[in-house]
Amino acid sequence: MDYLAVNKSAWDKRTKVHVGSKFYDVDGFLSGNSALQEIEFEELDVKGKSLLHLQCHFGLDTLSWAREGAEVTGIDLSSVAIEQARELAVKSQLEANFICSDLYSAADKLERQFDIVFTSYGAICWLPDLNRWAQMIKQSLKPGGEFYMAEFHPLEALFDGYSYFAQDEPDVDEEGTYTENCSGEKETLVSWPHPISEVFNALIAAGLEIKRYNEFDFSPYDAFANLEKELVTDKNGKQHTRYAMKHNDQRVPLVYSISAINNP
Ligand SMILES: C[S@@+](CC[C@H](N)C(=O)[O-])C[C@H]1O[C@@H](n2cnc3c(N)ncnc32)[C@H](O)[C@@H]1O
Repeated sequence: MDYLAVNKSAWDKRTKVHVGSKFYDVDGFLSGNSALQEIEFEELDVKGKSLLHLQCHFGLDTLSWAREGAEVTGIDLSSVAIEQARELAVKSQLEANFICSDLYSAADKLERQFDIVFTSYGAICWLPDLNRWAQMIKQSLKPGGEFYMAEFHPLEALFDGYSYFAQDEPDVDEEGTYTENCSGEKETLVSWPHPISEVFNALIAAGLEIKRYNEFDFSPYDAFANLEKELVTDKNGKQHTRYAMKHNDQRVPLVYSISAINNP
C-alpha cells in the first residue's frame, strides 16, 4: 500500500472539514487567540528564534509561534493544509514559510538549519520509521539547537484497542475525523504505534541529548472517547480546559513532552 498517497488523500479531506470547526476555531485565532496549548506554551521559549514545525497541519500552531516572536517554517504532507496555512498567514499578517513535503524528504527542500524543531499532538503515528524521523530532526537543527515535542501518550492508544508496542504491519483504519463538525464520512488512514522507548532510542541514536521528559495526566484536546472535562486556573490566574481519563479510578497519562539538544 502506498501509505503516503493514502494518508495525503485523507488529510486533504480532513483539512477541509477542520478549517470550519470549533475544535480549531480559526475565527478565534484571527481575532488574536493562540492555538498553542498550556504544555508547550510553558515549556518552550521561541522568542527571536528560528523554528521548524514538522507536520504543521494548516498552520495554526506555526502561526501562533510566529506571534510569540519566532521566525517560522512549517512542513506538511497535505497540499490542501499548506494552501490553507499560506492563506491564514496572509489573513493574520504574519510572516511564515510553508512547504508541502513528506517529512522524510523535507530536509533536502529546506537547505537550512533551525534553532528549534517542534512537533505536536497526533504527529508521529503517521510515520513508519522513527530512526529516519530523528535523523531528519538532527539534520534540521543548528548545533546547540533544541528539539521539542508534545505528543499524545501511547498508553491512550492501548485503552483504545491498539497495540502499545511497535508492530511490523501498520494499522489500516476507516475513520471519520476528530472535529465536532465531522459528517461521519470515513477515510482510510495508515498509522504505526510508537512506544516511548522507541521515541527515546531514535532520538539518542541520531545523536540528540535528552534534556527533559514530562508526562501529563490530561489532554488539552477533547480528542478521545471517555474523557472528563476539567477547568483549572494556573498560577497566573489563566483558565485552561483539560480532559482527563480514569482507569480503575486512577488518572491515565495522556500526553508526554520531550526536549532534546543537538550538542555540537
Ligand atoms: C494531527 S495533524 C498534526 C496536528 C498538529 N498538532 C497541528 O499543528 O495542528 C497530523 C498532520 O501530519 C501530516 N502528515 C501525515 N503524514 C505526514 C508525512 N509523512 N509527512 C509530513 N506530514 C505528514 C498530516 O497531513 C497532518 O496535517
